[in-house]
Amino acid sequence: MEISKVTAIYFSATGTNKRSVCTIAQEFVEKIETVDVTMWNSVEQERTFEEEELVVIGAPVYGGRIYEGARERFTHFHGKNTPCIVTVTYGNRHYDDALLELADLMKTQGFRVVAGAALIGQHTYGDIQKGRPNEQDLEEDRIFAKKVKEKLQNSDWQEPHIPGNSPYKDGGNGGAFRPLTNEKCVGCGICVAKCPQGAIQADCKTIDDKCIACFRCIQVCPVKAKNMDTPEYIEFAENFSKRLEARRENEWFFD
Ligand SMILES: Cc1cc2nc3c(=O)[nH]c(=O)nc-3n(C[C@H](O)[C@H](O)[C@H](O)COP(=O)(O)O)c2cc1C
Ligand code: SF4
Ligand code: SF4
Repeated sequence: MEISKVTAIYFSATGTNKRSVCTIAQEFVEKIETVDVTMWNSVEQERTFEEEELVVIGAPVYGGRIYEGARERFTHFHGKNTPCIVTVTYGNRHYDDALLELADLMKTQGFRVVAGAALIGQHTYGDIQKGRPNEQDLEEDRIFAKKVKEKLQNSDWQEPHIPGNSPYKDGGNGGAFRPLTNEKCVGCGICVAKCPQGAIQADCKTIDDKCIACFRCIQVCPVKAKNMDTPEYIEFAENFSKRLEARRENEWFFD
């Protein structure tokens, strides 16, 4: 089958899933369209994809599920039997039911899942698999995309088995940590503008209950003013990092 257009759709608070989704999509055509649904107000209208298009979609794993905000935003995309590659990125613990959940969701939305990938990304918390996806991971993404391309050449292709349990485990919510702001803050407002939840008030410091502990504000702050430098968090992060030390590998699902 000839693919006429490829769209990469992602929720990616700290950018790991975005890197993989775009790398996979770029293997199919020279110019892809990207649809970033990370911000709470990013999806303004319903959108339908045609049968000869390809959608590559992804989200991070939050508590063994896809983040519920990403899930809600994805329900505004519809397929007409449009082939879809589903991906989740997780921080080296496990993806549990997240990939199955995303595959099921996309099928309900009218897509046909051609392949799935459970990918490793640096964990939001602690010091776990830092820098991943790295260049080797992205090369694996490209090899995966080539294989999916071959699969799509066969007009008779079947949807793969995607691991996970249904009913899904509880999860998909944010975490409980709330970043702090230290005296280095220059009030530039970058964190306010980039918070996926719109949870940081105009004073650049007050964080409301909409916060999901994605730590994007810590990542984007240019002067390292946003932080999680409490003794409790530092202790948690050390123990957590030790617990998840053993490296896991990317997994691919075609059959
Ligand atoms: C609230 C929350 C819950 C998470 N739950 C899991 C999990 O269940 N398993 C896991 O391996 N990683 C988990 N992670 C780590 C993220 O899945 C991981 O860092 C991912 O690379 C983030 O993707 P992004 O950079 O595209 O936002 C969690 C992260 C957050 C913020
Ligand atoms: S305030 Fe909370 S939701 Fe907003 S970017 Fe920071 S950690 Fe994420
Ligand atoms: S991004 Fe950093 S410096 Fe800018 S307002 Fe936020 S905390 Fe302050």
